[in-house]
Amino acid sequence: MTPAPTYALSDGHEIPAIGFGTYPLKGEDGIAAIVSAIEVGYRLLDTAVNYENETEVGEAIRRSGVPREELFVTSKLPGRHHGYDDAIASVQGSLERLGLEQLDLHLIHWPNPSVGQYVEAWRALVECQRRGWLRSVGVSNFTVEHLAAIVEDTAVAPVVNQVELHPRFPQPEMREAHARLGIVTEAWSPMGKRRAPLEEPAVVAAAERLGVTPGQVVLRWHVQLGSLPIPKSSSRERQAANLDVFSFELTDDEVASISALAEPDGRLFGGDPDSHEEM
Ligand SMILES: NC(=O)c1ccc[n+]([C@@H]2O[C@H](COP(=O)([O-])OP(=O)(O)OC[C@H]3O[C@@H](n4cnc5c(N)ncnc54)[C@H](OP(=O)(O)O)[C@@H]3O)[C@@H](O)[C@H]2O)c1
Repeated sequence: MTPAPTYALSDGHEIPAIGFGTYPLKGEDGIAAIVSAIEVGYRLLDTAVNYENETEVGEAIRRSGVPREELFVTSKLPGRHHGYDDAIASVQGSLERLGLEQLDLHLIHWPNPSVGQYVEAWRALVECQRRGWLRSVGVSNFTVEHLAAIVEDTAVAPVVNQVELHPRFPQPEMREAHARLGIVTEAWSPMGKRRAPLEEPAVVAAAERLGVTPGQVVLRWHVQLGSLPIPKSSSRERQAANLDVFSFELTDDEVASISALAEPDGRLFGGDPDSHEEM
């Protein structure tokens, strides 16, 4: 398998070009699935306070035997911890549950604009970075306006914005904005979950031409867009296939025909980050 390359982050660190999503893996089965993902070769793990599985992720890291410095661990600050002191305590809680001294990346999970404390939360993450608890800091589900507000306040730009992105919802404007701002686009629900286009002719035809699975075609589409996907799978076989997307290439026409699967209501959540909030 050709190993995943890395992207350079704007703060000088690097991030693997594909990661493993850990929601909703919990308990012993969850630990086993995460250990399996590390064994098949994932180096980026994506968790969150709200997934209630940071303990499992930490345990899986230790059981895997892979040295800590070879892994890139991301967690996320929940909406209910946006107050400055709450956010600092929340990061400490994440580190304790994970059993780590430092997170490679911590994200504000949702801007929760109706609460209106995401700028304060960002100041707290920047302080945690200064203290050495967080190597890099980023956000999730931020719009261009939210990004502008935190950069104006702190002069610190997030290295990553993790957003919903899949063939039904390819987010060209958001990707362009990220490129302009030097922010890596990370894609959650990269397959599109219940809307996964795995039987769409555009995806199936490319899979047949290349001798790969439809899931691999969708993840390769992300790679060629410059989007960093974090697929979740409980199956070791699908985990391995999902990671193996760096040894073949879609044509420009194939990429365009998969992007053309976009739908006006393609978003998995009915609302958008301005209306959907995660506490
Ligand atoms: N920041 C946010 O607000 C946010 C929101 C949602 C998710 N996330 C993160 O993003 C990660 C991924 O998102 P997600 O789990 O919603 O969606 P996803 O990774 O796009 O899809 C996961 C689903 O697809 C199936 N699957 C995986 N690989 C497959 C393949 N090759 N062929 C067919 N089916 C396949 C999995 O089933 P099996 O397990 O049976 O393989 C699972 O049901 C989460 O785990 C989480 O870390 C973040």
